[in-house]
Amino acid sequence: MTSLSKNIQDLRERKALVEMGGGEAAIEKQVAMGKLTARERIITLLDKNSFHEYDLFVDHDGRDFGMENKVLHGDGVITGTGTIFGAPICIYAQDFTVAGGSLGLKHARKITKIMDHALKMKCPIIGINDSGGARIQEGVGALAGYGEIFYRNTICSGVIPQISLILGPCAGGAVYSPALTDFVFVVENISKMFITGPNVIKTVLGEDISMEDLGGARVHAEITGNAHFYAQSEQECFDQIKKLVSLIPWNNMERAKSIEPKEPSVKLNIEQVVPADPKKPYDVRDVIKCIVDDSDFLEIQELWAANIVIGFARMGGDTVGFVANQPMVLAGVLDCDSSDKAARFIRFCDAFNIPIITLEDMPGYLPGVDQEHAGVIRHGAKVLYAYSEATVPKVTVILRKAYGGGYIAMNSRHLGADFMFAWPSAEIAVMGPEGAANIIFRKEIMEAEDQDAMRQEKVKEYIEKFANPYVAASKGFIDSVIEPKETRSLLLHALKLSVLKSEDRPAKKHGIPPF
Ligand code: HXC
Repeated sequence: MTSLSKNIQDLRERKALVEMGGGEAAIEKQVAMGKLTARERIITLLDKNSFHEYDLFVDHDGRDFGMENKVLHGDGVITGTGTIFGAPICIYAQDFTVAGGSLGLKHARKITKIMDHALKMKCPIIGINDSGGARIQEGVGALAGYGEIFYRNTICSGVIPQISLILGPCAGGAVYSPALTDFVFVVENISKMFITGPNVIKTVLGEDISMEDLGGARVHAEITGNAHFYAQSEQECFDQIKKLVSLIPWNNMERAKSIEPKEPSVKLNIEQVVPADPKKPYDVRDVIKCIVDDSDFLEIQELWAANIVIGFARMGGDTVGFVANQPMVLAGVLDCDSSDKAARFIRFCDAFNIPIITLEDMPGYLPGVDQEHAGVIRHGAKVLYAYSEATVPKVTVILRKAYGGGYIAMNSRHLGADFMFAWPSAEIAVMGPEGAANIIFRKEIMEAEDQDAMRQEKVKEYIEKFANPYVAASKGFIDSVIEPKETRSLLLHALKLSVLKSEDRPAKKHGIPPF
């Protein structure tokens, strides 16, 4: 054997050893939990044979509690580069088979190195979390590592897309890295995310709760809103990520890649989706399907704050973001959660050059003591801020109700909409006819012999005057009242006209959005 082939043999053996992670027993335990290993996850997610690993031979430098004699292969995290549908990707995956994927300083430095690389190369960063948290034996070194990751998450925000997968435990302060990223993916029975676990909660508060009920996938997809995508299996989760990556740009200086345009494929008549009776609900996603390419819509945070629908689709082959009130849930009102959901999505679209299409049908902000005390004022303000701040092309279609604060908040002309369309079924007013008539005609109603008849008459009067798009159109607040079947072609026209849109804002370090 020549000395070169001996060296190559030596390299292969070293690699094979490290690639075994925490060893056979730990891998078997991982598989028994229904989880792929960290390496399998990366290889399955990325394009075939595209993964190139970095820092394979990095080991920990713990010196206390017996760590000095332990070898932790790769220090419990795999990092590197690859592609998804040809898009460049930087990636890391914590390896639970090595010391529970716990994070020591070297582990963290591997992550921050690949994050720095992503920022320099201007490509998305994907982080797969599967870890027991700060490596207890390393103490402050581990905490320093987390801090350095959070700092980079913040610096990368709005520059490169950041995607987090929770594929195991993600506990304690570790949760704050995913929370700082743009999209969080969870998988049924695998994801567990919490600040303090069931044991601490039992000790401190005396409350009993299982890990699943505290911070399982469903909880974060439905209740907390921490997760953006929910899947039944790791494979489904990887498919969701691939689709997302295909729809967003690599960085904030690019546009998402165009593909061949397609006509909508859904067999629905757009004129019949929205019921004539303004009190009847419908699924606004059917309207979206009627107007987007191939009727293909990638919904985000589908299970949380379902009174607003957000997500990506393509129109004319290019990515657009949709924000649509959902009349099927709480009549599509804006409340604390739906405001947060919409505002963050609008800011993502704006940061990454994705035009925003708003479909409006809502009776305003949700009234009530709970909402007021939960801070609907500051939450609702986020929507106003996000739309006003956004300089990407912004198009609104008012389908039906546009009442009160909702009319203003849902990308009205007054917040800078570039194109304002309304269907003939649009009702644009300060509030719904019943409420309005009861206030402005209270005296007449009270004094009438037949109060109900008088109320009905005044409601009718109000509807005739205001429950239509023509008052707003007469003031130029709406550009065109359009037929539903014209919606796709006019949206395509608006998007085409907006390709070179540029809008200046006064120079500032950054704004201070309501939180
Ligand atoms: C060092 C750890 C570890 C940790 C797990 N391990 N977590 N080692 N530091 N944080 C090791 C275990 O000792 C074990 O090693 C191996 O990983 C597998 O762990 P198991 O407990 O056998 O696995 P499992 O039964 O599946 O339980 C997983 C777990 C549990 C629920 C995550 O390990 C756990 O509760 N770990 C501690 C979680 C925690 O409190 N972390 C600190 C959070 S505070 P061996 O050698 O036996 O295989 C925090 C602060 C960050 O993170 C602040 C940042 C701002």
